[in-house]
Amino acid sequence: MSRATLPSKGIEREALFASMRERKRQDADWRGARTWSLCYPAGEEVDSVLAEANQLYLYENALNPFRFPSVRQMEVDVVGIALSLLHAPPAADGCMTSGGTESIIMAMKTARERARAERGVEHPTIVAPYSAHPAFAKAASYLRMELVAIPLREDLRADVAAAAKLVDDRTAVVVGSAPCYPFGVVDPIPELAALARDRGASFHTDACLGGFLWPFWEALGESVPPFDFRVEGVTTISADVHKYGYATKGASTISHRDGEHLRRHQMFVYRDWPGGGYASFAMAGARPAAPIAAAWAILHWLGRDGYVRLARKIRDTTRKLRDGVAAIDGLFVHGRPEMSLFAFGSARHDLFAIADAMDDRGWCLDRQTGPDALHMMVSPEHEKVADAFLVDLRESVETHGTSRGKEARYS
Ligand SMILES: Cc1ncc(COP(=O)(O)O)c(C=O)c1O
Repeated sequence: MSRATLPSKGIEREALFASMRERKRQDADWRGARTWSLCYPAGEEVDSVLAEANQLYLYENALNPFRFPSVRQMEVDVVGIALSLLHAPPAADGCMTSGGTESIIMAMKTARERARAERGVEHPTIVAPYSAHPAFAKAASYLRMELVAIPLREDLRADVAAAAKLVDDRTAVVVGSAPCYPFGVVDPIPELAALARDRGASFHTDACLGGFLWPFWEALGESVPPFDFRVEGVTTISADVHKYGYATKGASTISHRDGEHLRRHQMFVYRDWPGGGYASFAMAGARPAAPIAAAWAILHWLGRDGYVRLARKIRDTTRKLRDGVAAIDGLFVHGRPEMSLFAFGSARHDLFAIADAMDDRGWCLDRQTGPDALHMMVSPEHEKVADAFLVDLRESVETHGTSRGKEARYS
């Protein structure tokens, strides 16, 4: 591919956007609900609220709360809503970040600083299930911490007995997912949190996916595994508004049971330069205000009843898809997924050939290995395509199930 150069003369606006629209045609059709990850389509009305909120705050910078107090207040409100949904105690506090990864990195940094300050830990570890998101490995790499993997039990949840042997004096933080991305199952959070608490270590619940869905799942009368601040020992929780909160990308929250940890261990303060005092809670310096505004807008526009309505659609569609997939000869669902995502496997068929065939029909299914699986994460708009998807999947299995796919090299 040749390297781009700056055009010598500016391009006419009409031609410019025509070219951009043309380029965009190659992208995944998330609006048509043909994708099963990356985007969380919730319908045109949601999109139009997000677009208007983004437009209103497209240029502001959330770095300085004194210059843009309305942005600051929206962040405080979004965090307040997250804290309420997660049953945080009065002393809790938090902030927004650009996404789950940044929230996780800041939680790991907080745990590292806390372990050093309170227990003199010099070579800190993060003890996290094998199924935990790569953001924990990234955090370990950035922060010079060691990642220690907890093996999974047969049900694909973290093995608590194995974890007990891995948690020691170096442990800064133990992690559990609610749910994990690969299989949609929830780790035994109370048991893992107890291991951390017994050592005086932090415990992080990765509720990037579940944080803005479980509360409404509970409202539907579904059983919800313990994961939030009601569990003793949970010290931080990441919950993304840009996933099941339906905000546009760039909106996550990190919540601390003890707000002092946010200020003492997460915040970065610097004065030793000529440009004035500098304080920041997250990795980024300049921060776009638009994702904060969009998160605030969608939370208020949907309200509790809107989120419950969308949660019902997700629940019913997930059940239909999960049952439909399991009913196809030779396919099975991995583990017992509890929320809105799952992965399916096959002892007989070549899953990756099936995924290729589904690609050809315009569906984007993510491939997983260890164990081999195809991954599905359900959003409200999938309600409209679930039947068509299952027809295409059945036909793809019948016609391609036993041939070899292009991703088969991983197996
Ligand atoms: C469970 C979980 N944690 C963390 C993340 C990372 O979030 P982000 O991609 O917003 O950085 C994801 C992303 O899918 C996730 O599923």
